[in-house]
Amino acid sequence: MAVKKTIRAAVFPVAGRGTRFLPATKACPKEMLPVVDKPLIQYAVEEALEAGVEKLVFITGSSKRAIEDHFDADRELERALEESGKQDLLDCITNIVPPRAACIYIRQPVPLGLGHAVLCARPAVGDEPFYVHLADDLIKADMPCLEQMRRQYEQHGSSVIAVQPVPREQTGSYGIVAVDPERGGRKRITRIVEKPKPEAAPSNLAVVGRYVLTPRIFDKLEQTGRGAGGEIQLTDAIAELLADEAAYAYEFEGVRYDCGNKLGYLQANVEYAIDHPSLGGEFADYLAGFAAQLPKQRA
Ligand code: UTP
Repeated sequence: MAVKKTIRAAVFPVAGRGTRFLPATKACPKEMLPVVDKPLIQYAVEEALEAGVEKLVFITGSSKRAIEDHFDADRELERALEESGKQDLLDCITNIVPPRAACIYIRQPVPLGLGHAVLCARPAVGDEPFYVHLADDLIKADMPCLEQMRRQYEQHGSSVIAVQPVPREQTGSYGIVAVDPERGGRKRITRIVEKPKPEAAPSNLAVVGRYVLTPRIFDKLEQTGRGAGGEIQLTDAIAELLADEAAYAYEFEGVRYDCGNKLGYLQANVEYAIDHPSLGGEFADYLAGFAAQLPKQRA
């Protein structure tokens, strides 16, 4: 069994181009798009902090300055809110990142792919297990998804990859795993393939944007060439890792919204708005009225 260590770092690859959201993402990072009133990257950071992380490692690229600014203090704005007595607004912009956690920004010089982005985190992560969190996969759950995965890792000390079943015809949009069920309900990964066609997919269990990875993955990434889409794929490095170490697929509890595409992003906004403490009731009334008129409007 692998040696278990505390997971102290979370890596947020945010250097992608976000082309599916152009023109919105021309100058604004995809991860800064809000779901109701909070940017995607803040949901991501909050989830990692709830799992006990101390190092927040952002892999950034061009046009991503807004992310650094978001997690920095803005003294002028804080003073203005204080002077105008807007304590609730002041509270929501201060201490997003508590003093116990450090933000580390590393530039990915060219967006060569998710695997390459994760490799860029090596100097900050070191020889320790770490999380990878893709902010555009937003997961609503009673227990935050990374905390669920931390508990899995605690049991065996091996890599854990979040998965969910998808319709067969969608396998070409995901990494897909084949698993071998073990005693205790664990699913050991036997194969992982990036974006297979439905007829070639080893299952319909798709990888979503949450990982616990052992540091051995960095050695594998060093040796990984370009794969699907001409990019250096994290999936290909995980496939190599399987030869040396066990890795487990984990079907998390919660609802995932694919905020990397427009439909998933809109669904997340509607469902988070309905749950919003001050907006929810009014928004639900509006939505019910709108839905009642919908057939007429679309006709
Ligand atoms: P996506 O496949 O969603 O790509 O990347 P993208 O560029 O963000 O968006 P589209 O497809 O052009 O609309 C998955 C994750 O990997 C990061 C992205 O920021 C996203 O969180 N990524 C991808 C990098 O950090 N660097 C890369 O070179 C590629």
